Amino acid sequence: MSSGISLETRDLTIRFGGHVAVNAVSCAFGPGTLTAIVGPNGAGKTTYFNLISGQLKPSAGQVLLHGRDLSHLSAPARTHAGLGRAFQLTSLFPNLSVLENIRLALQSRRHLGLDLWHVWSHHKALTERAEQVLESVALTARRDQPAAALPHGDQRKLEVGMLMALDPAVYLFDEPTAGMSVDEVPVILDLIRRLRLQADKTILLVEHKMDVVRELADRIIVLHNGALVADGEPEAVIASPVVQQAYLGLAPVEEAT
Ligand SMILES: Nc1ncnc2c1ncn2[C@@H]1O[C@H](COP(=O)(O)OP(=O)(O)O)[C@@H](O)[C@H]1O
Ligand SMILES: [Mg+2]
Repeated sequence: MSSGISLETRDLTIRFGGHVAVNAVSCAFGPGTLTAIVGPNGAGKTTYFNLISGQLKPSAGQVLLHGRDLSHLSAPARTHAGLGRAFQLTSLFPNLSVLENIRLALQSRRHLGLDLWHVWSHHKALTERAEQVLESVALTARRDQPAAALPHGDQRKLEVGMLMALDPAVYLFDEPTAGMSVDEVPVILDLIRRLRLQADKTILLVEHKMDVVRELADRIIVLHNGALVADGEPEAVIASPVVQQAYLGLAPVEEAT
């Protein structure tokens, strides 16, 4: 595990009416690590991501990236700062082709503005990079189809491709394989596996399949009723009473392979 901190939340809290969905979560994440976030449905995992990415404003607490307080930035400004969350881009350009969607993500990262119609044909390098990204998410065959025409699983792969094109410092994956067919799941897991080898990337992964968590995670944190109730090495956390309790009867038991 690398030293240092990339992403940090301090006392991050949100209340919906009287309900505390995320309750004073303080946690730091280092570059070169993949942290799995587990917990029963309704534990606050997605809400925690929404607070980090700026979709939701906290009732209290801060989000820091490389020591900089992002708490007052909008979601797009946080994306720009290096926080990558797939769904922010999902529905952006349903009528553009798969390749054009990826190029757009590459373009936005390079701050070249949105005058794409003019510059695309001249940007051979951009197209080549977009093709590499497509290859890595196994969408080359879908290259010229409009994003809206893709089956659900391919749309999820496109989301991940667009996220990769942004090249964020922090990746937030919220159940990235949910709704995918059995043969599509390995493509996504393989991508996460490869991202994980990059020493400068910080990956947070919400995932219910414990065999996947065991394989990919350097660390597991557990949310329960919005609070961080366990944090540590995968085997120790999985064996802990709090996890055994939280999952007992609440999540399907996966056979470890
Ligand atoms: N926008 C919202 N308004 C009101 N309640 C919400 C909102 N978003 C999430 N919640 C509530 O916050 C809790 C945590 O939800 P969520 O973060 O989606 O859980 P998880 O992703 O762990 O399954 C749930 O009780 C949910 O109903
Ligand atoms: Mg969720």
